[in-house]
Amino acid sequence: MSKVKSSETVKVVVRCRPLNRKDAAGVTGTPGGRGGIIEMDVDRGQVVLRNPRALPGEPQKTFTFDSVYDASSRQRDLYDETVRPLIHSVLDGFNGTIFAYGQTGTGKTYTMQGEWLEPERRGVIPNAFEHVFTQIARSTADRQYLVRASYLEIYREEIRDLLDPNPPHTLELRESPESGVYVRDLTSCVCKSVKEIQELMNVGNQVRSVGATDMNEHSSRSHTLFLITVECSQTGPDGRQHIRVGRLNLVDLAGSERQAKTGVHGERLKEAAKINLSLSALGNVISALADGRGGHVPYRDSKLTRLLQDSLGGNAKTVMVATLGPAPQHYEETLTTLRYANRTKNIQNQPRVNEDPKDALLREFQKEIARLRAQLSHREGRGKHRKEEGWDGEGDEEGEEEVEKERKLQEERLEEEKEAIREDGSLLAVEKQRLLGENEIMMGDLRKERDTTEQLTAKYKVHTHIYREESLGVFLSLPPPLLSCPAHLPFF
Ligand SMILES: Nc1ncnc2c1ncn2[C@@H]1O[C@H](COP(=O)(O)OP(=O)(O)OP(=O)(O)O)[C@@H](O)[C@H]1O
Ligand SMILES: [Mg+2]
Repeated sequence: MSKVKSSETVKVVVRCRPLNRKDAAGVTGTPGGRGGIIEMDVDRGQVVLRNPRALPGEPQKTFTFDSVYDASSRQRDLYDETVRPLIHSVLDGFNGTIFAYGQTGTGKTYTMQGEWLEPERRGVIPNAFEHVFTQIARSTADRQYLVRASYLEIYREEIRDLLDPNPPHTLELRESPESGVYVRDLTSCVCKSVKEIQELMNVGNQVRSVGATDMNEHSSRSHTLFLITVECSQTGPDGRQHIRVGRLNLVDLAGSERQAKTGVHGERLKEAAKINLSLSALGNVISALADGRGGHVPYRDSKLTRLLQDSLGGNAKTVMVATLGPAPQHYEETLTTLRYANRTKNIQNQPRVNEDPKDALLREFQKEIARLRAQLSHREGRGKHRKEEGWDGEGDEEGEEEVEKERKLQEERLEEEKEAIREDGSLLAVEKQRLLGENEIMMGDLRKERDTTEQLTAKYKVHTHIYREESLGVFLSLPPPLLSCPAHLPFF
């Protein structure tokens, strides 16, 4: 099923957000505290953390990462340097994960989503949408792509489908040798453009759990995972079609929080308890993997760690964006985030190209098209007129018109015959009745034939809804029965 096996570490980058009004109280009176307690050396990928209550002579703590992004960094910088290569790998058939990790209010959602309406402030997810579809549009004509998306959240340790308006209470996790850990019955929608995939994200964002706390007005109260599956079919050197499947997990975690700081009560407090529990399970998984001794890894301790099983220590290329706030009053939390980020750098993954998996939907889809095409050719007797290769449905409309014309002619002939029988004075009444009856049966057969062909043609068109963006990328859209997708979504 797969090849190109190699090992690589999880890539870890750190981002610090600017000081905000809430931080200001803590910064006032901090000696030299222009940027709070964090200094970054972008060229060296270093973060220097200063303890605001340090004893005289206590050294500052320095950490080095693959890249660091300071408070003046732009969304685009992070995307181009850190995310872009990951998206290319996904299009080549690797699994890829990017997850944002850090204390509440430090910029995880800002980094992953950003401000959709301001191009400069768009985050990883909208930029990834653009990128995926632009790359597909630029790819060579011999490649066919099928892009699907799902969106879920883990809220109080339950998995919810954000694209299903009437979801069952909670979805279950399953595991298979082909796709690793997956969510059973999760909605998966085919997307043919940036607009369509954005609409999906909007649908999900409207129902994801967000609430206000003292530390963040729009605090994520759940972990979210937006999954994009890209299947690509291409003719190999052996002349056969080969399918590669890349899965991209875009993960926006909820942040760790202390009740004393967030001031949460009631439901918010219960949410916080579950958030902290699953984040500590994630911390344990990171620690177990990072020590490199190959001991037990407690993936099963939370839904989050099970879902991230392939991303941490498995078949995926993974990027962690650890987010920090610069305020001195959060020194301990910032140090904890940096320590976990530092440990994560040691995690070894084994990413490989997922080639020709049995469950590729593209193959199922191609088989269905071939079957419908054969049926249509047979029905309309136009098999020999149609080119076997490159039949893209365009010349087909001409063919359909011809067949329709022929059918009309036959109908007219039958109508004329009917008239002639009626007006023929030499026929006995009984004979006339018999001939008119035969004429009616022939007319009925003709109509039935037309209806069946129309149905087949319509089905075929749904299957081969092929369009080309710009010039080359070819998309195939899958018919509804093969995928679960809520009917209210706009593109079926
Ligand atoms: N790099 C940044 N530049 C400008 N503003 C930022 C940046 N990072 C975060 N912010 C702002 O800080 C606030 C909190 O950010 P955000 O909601 O992304 O935090 P979070 O880590 O997702 O928190 P939570 O864990 O509570 O969901 C938001 O108003 C956001 O716009
Ligand atoms: Mg958030």
